[in-house]
Amino acid sequence: MTQYSKKDFLVITGASSGIGAATAEIFLQHHFTVVNLSRRVSTHKGVLTLTTDLAQNGFEHILKPRLMPYLEKADRIVLVHNAATLEKDSVSQIQPDPFRKILEINVVAPAILNQMLIPLMKPGSSILYVGSTLSEKAVPRAFSYVTSKHATIGMMRATCQDLLDTGIHTACVCPGFTDTPMLRSQLNHDESVLEQIKSGNGHHRLVDPKEIAQTIYFAATQPVLNDAIIHANLGQRQQ
Ligand SMILES: NC(=O)c1ccc[n+]([C@@H]2O[C@H](COP(=O)([O-])OP(=O)(O)OC[C@H]3O[C@@H](n4cnc5c(N)ncnc54)[C@H](OP(=O)(O)O)[C@@H]3O)[C@@H](O)[C@H]2O)c1
Repeated sequence: MTQYSKKDFLVITGASSGIGAATAEIFLQHHFTVVNLSRRVSTHKGVLTLTTDLAQNGFEHILKPRLMPYLEKADRIVLVHNAATLEKDSVSQIQPDPFRKILEINVVAPAILNQMLIPLMKPGSSILYVGSTLSEKAVPRAFSYVTSKHATIGMMRATCQDLLDTGIHTACVCPGFTDTPMLRSQLNHDESVLEQIKSGNGHHRLVDPKEIAQTIYFAATQPVLNDAIIHANLGQRQQ
């Protein structure tokens, strides 16, 4: 089994909350140095946050000189595209600017970060995308999110093809309903809706963010999973 050290880096977006915070924790336990990119600072002492707004045009010009000095001597780099935003919108009501903002965070920022980090990534490195159940199906009133999460799978597949022969692998982890602030705020903290959601899988509960974090860690460290789409949703009932 590969042993990791402080010279192995996790660069993750959105580790100030939810799945990202749990993922940072797991990589710290495996001795990685963890760098988080988000607007809020991670409350975990071991995590270095470089505050970044991924929706800001040109964020990479501010980030690059701050991030590069940490990564120049990295052995392996795991890049996890986790940050995302979710709005309730629909095909007939979508407004260009909010739609652009969602695509900036969920689609364009991962592409920019890939370009920044791939030149520094040695064999054994990996790029993990966090998709969603909505990467492969749609529900009403989630137009921009569904669109962006379908693009996530496309980005992962294209990343795989472009990086063949580099020793860098990629995969997309698609969580189901996971108990995070994003989910709870989307449901307006309505416990009755949460109960309905829980009955939508055979285990009658939400996914724990730590379960997604462990899945991301496993996929990030297993090259055999190159190009994999990994459903992590407790088995959703087919309606
Ligand atoms: N929870 C679920 O049920 C579920 C299901 C399927 C997929 N997912 C996916 O899982 C991932 C994590 O979601 P979560 O549920 O853990 O949500 P969360 O708790 O709301 O966390 C979202 C993270 O994204 C970051 N973020 C949002 N906008 C940003 C911006 N403009 N710049 C930088 N960072 C930004 C936030 O950081 P700041 O606010 O500090 O910037 C936060 O750390 C997302 O890709 C989501 O689509 C979640």
